[in-house]
Amino acid sequence: MYVCLCRGITDNQIRKAVQAGKTEFRQLKQSLEVGAQCGKCVRMAMEIIATEIDKM
Ligand code: FES
Repeated sequence: MYVCLCRGITDNQIRKAVQAGKTEFRQLKQSLEVGAQCGKCVRMAMEIIATEIDKM
């Protein structure tokens, strides 16, 4: 599922990045550019980060 339409970033890409150690939103923004344009995806991206951290 696409989370960030502006940059074409999926939930799977975000999950893999979190699993690889990018557990803070700013790290994801730097590496994937999620949320770097309109910002509408930030809330959902942060929810995915929190869910993945809970699983760790
Ligand atoms: Fe992610 Fe616009 S939807 S920056």
